[in-house]
Amino acid sequence: MTDEERTPNASGGAESGSESGEGAGGGEGSGTGDGTGSEPERPYGAGTQAQEGPPGSYLTYASYLKIDELLSLQQPLSDGPEHDEMLFIVIHQVYELWFKEVLHEVDYAVKLIRTDDLARAHHTMKRILTILKVLVAQLDILETMTPVEFLTFRERLEEASGFQSHQFRELEFVLGAKSQWAISRYPEHEPALKRLRQRYEEPTLWDAFLLCLTREGYPVPRELLERDVTQRIEPSPELQEVLVNVYRRDPALSELCERLVDLDEGLQEWRYRHVKMVERTIGTKPGSGGSAGAEYLRKTLFKPAFPDLWGIRARL
Ligand code: HEM
Repeated sequence: MTDEERTPNASGGAESGSESGEGAGGGEGSGTGDGTGSEPERPYGAGTQAQEGPPGSYLTYASYLKIDELLSLQQPLSDGPEHDEMLFIVIHQVYELWFKEVLHEVDYAVKLIRTDDLARAHHTMKRILTILKVLVAQLDILETMTPVEFLTFRERLEEASGFQSHQFRELEFVLGAKSQWAISRYPEHEPALKRLRQRYEEPTLWDAFLLCLTREGYPVPRELLERDVTQRIEPSPELQEVLVNVYRRDPALSELCERLVDLDEGLQEWRYRHVKMVERTIGTKPGSGGSAGAEYLRKTLFKPAFPDLWGIRARL
C-alpha cells in the first residue's frame, strides 16, 4: 500500500465511499498504521452519506463542526501580529460560545419550571452552574497576560469592549437585571437588538419560579405575579415569609431555590474575578468601551439577581 492510499481522506470525498471503504479499510494491515488494529479501519468520511450536500459527500468531524470556518475566525489586528492578541481573541470567542450555551440552558430551565418538571429543571441548573465555574476559571488564563503584553495591541481595540457583549446583556435580562440604558447603547442597525428587546419584554427566570411556587400552593403576593417584568427584581418582605416556609417544609423546592442562589453567586463571582483581572491589567485607566474602567465595574459587584433568596438566610 502506498502512503497515498493509507492517508485517511479527511475531506470526506467521494472516492472514500462505502465500496472503496471496504477495499481501503478491509485489506491486510490497512487502516491500522502499525498493524496492531488499534487505529480506525475506515478512512475518515467513509461512513454514511451526508444528509445535506451533493451525492458522495460524507459527514466528517470537520464538516459537522465547521472546523475550517471556526478556525478562520481568529484574525488579529496588530502588526506582526503581536503574540498575545491570539489569546485575547480566542478567550473572548470561547466566552461568547459559552454564553450562547448558558442562554440555551437557561431558556430550557424556564420552560421546565413552567411545566413543573422540577427534577429536570434542577438537572439543567446544575449544568449551567458547572459552565459558570469554567467561565470563572478561564480568567486565570487571561491573567497570564501581563499589562505590558496587553499594551502591545490594546490600541487596536479602539472602542470595542466586553461592555458591548449582547449575549452577556441577554443573560442579565433573563436573570432580571433589566436596563433600558443597556439597550440604548446599541445602534439601531445592530442585529442583536431585536433579541435584546424581546428579552427585555419577556418574564424572567424568577417570574417563572414565582408562578411555580403559586401552583405548588404558596401564597405569592399578587403584585409580584403581576409585576412589570421590564423592571429589576426588588426585594419583598411578604415573599420572604413565603420562602422561609418553602425552606422549612419543601425539600424539592428549596433545592431549586439553592440552585438559583448558586447561579446568582456564580455570576457575582465572575464579575468579581473580572474586576480583579481588569485592575491588575489596566489599573485605574478608563475602559476601551468608554467607562471609568475598574471603578465602573466595582459598582456592579455584590448586586444579587434574586435579593429575596439572600434576604432570608439569617432566618433559616
Ligand atoms: C485584558 C482583558 C480584559 C480587560 C482589560 C477588560 C476590561 C473591561 C473594562 C474596563 C470594562 C468596563 C467597560 C469599558 O469601559 O470597557 C469591561 C466590561 C466588560 N467586560 Fe471585560 N475586560 C477584559 C476581558 C474580558 C473578557 C475575557 C470577557 C468575557 C466575555 C469580558 C467581558 C466583559 C463584560 C461582559 C463587560 C461588561 C460588564 C458590565 O457592564 O457589567 N471582558 N471589561
